[in-house]
Amino acid sequence: MKKFRVAVLANIKANAPVFEGMSADQWDDLDSESTVLSLRDAIRAGGHECEFLEADESIIDTVRAYKPDICFNIAESHFGDSREAQIPAILEKLQIPYTGSKILTLALSLDKPMTKRILAWHNLPTPEFQSFERENEPLDEGMQYPLFIKPSREGTGMGISYQSILHNEDELRTQLRYVLNRYKQPALVERFIEGREVTVGLVGNLIGPVARRIPLDENAHRIHAGLHFLPPMEVNLDPYLETDGVYGNNLKTALAADLEYLCPAPLDEDMVDELNWLAAAVFRVTGALDFARIDFRLDKNDNFKPYILEINPLPGLMPKLSDIIIEANADGFSHTEFINLILNTALSRYGMI
Ligand SMILES: Nc1ncnc2c1ncn2[C@@H]1O[C@H](COP(=O)(O)OP(=O)(O)OP(=O)(O)O)[C@@H](O)[C@H]1O
Ligand SMILES: [Mg+2]
Repeated sequence: MKKFRVAVLANIKANAPVFEGMSADQWDDLDSESTVLSLRDAIRAGGHECEFLEADESIIDTVRAYKPDICFNIAESHFGDSREAQIPAILEKLQIPYTGSKILTLALSLDKPMTKRILAWHNLPTPEFQSFERENEPLDEGMQYPLFIKPSREGTGMGISYQSILHNEDELRTQLRYVLNRYKQPALVERFIEGREVTVGLVGNLIGPVARRIPLDENAHRIHAGLHFLPPMEVNLDPYLETDGVYGNNLKTALAADLEYLCPAPLDEDMVDELNWLAAAVFRVTGALDFARIDFRLDKNDNFKPYILEINPLPGLMPKLSDIIIEANADGFSHTEFINLILNTALSRYGMI
């Protein structure tokens, strides 16, 4: 096994800037020091040299000084509409290889409405939607309550709670005001999918003619060679239907350790095949690399038809608790093994191993 010099690039919550008027959940998407150190230790256990570098403005100097062969990038960055794409942009300028998806995919997937436009063009099932930039924009004809509202460019359930489920015009306007003012970005309003909550993680890279429109023919050949699907995970939201209703910020942070995670999710084989295919299709049309997690809801009012909510090309990697780590564990990978699998997937993509 070849030994590499690896820098883990991340933004630790405790290092994040503090500013006036900042909300309590401002940095909920960032990583804890213990997660970042667990990645560093996993990569060291894989036989490599590894250090953590805080992915702030100092990164150009620190990365040049450390001279990594490759960076293990999980940096979300702090500011800007396409913040998750900033570190990849710097690394490409410096011609340093890095794990995971590149600039365009990270910028795209952070913008949920833009991602949904791409999914819709490929006829992939994602809830009908409308993006709002102003509080008083009329609701499109055909958008039927109940609806669901969320900020366009956040993660970790930020701005998502029981109040995000909208039953009428009054609730729509109140929540639009809240999301637009608090998160200073367009609000995404979607059809509310009542049902089960399932997520699919995968690792690998696609082989084959991926630059094609997804065929409409249901029997057409499905391209997913090169990907390894982890067992799907379901979060049991039943105990929280009256308090949270959805997998929002409160459940993803304060209550994360109390939730019941079913992995592998109790789904029949055909459903798992369908979810894997949809996950591969989203991975492909968004141009993702190495690993990702795709979130779904299964519509209980339509025979549990799966709807794609989003793709996370930088999913949380916290030992034991992050969704994709729970899935990797259920598949027999330890945290250390899974982190090295991601690293090796990137090294092999660059032809370094
Ligand atoms: N259209 C919808 N209908 C029903 N529930 C929804 C819908 N969109 C989002 N949700 C609920 O809100 C949760 C969070 O939504 P989403 O995955 O888009 O946000 P996120 O904050 O980016 O999540 P992550 O932690 O995965 O980054 C979903 O897991 C689901 O429970
Ligand atoms: Mg999600």
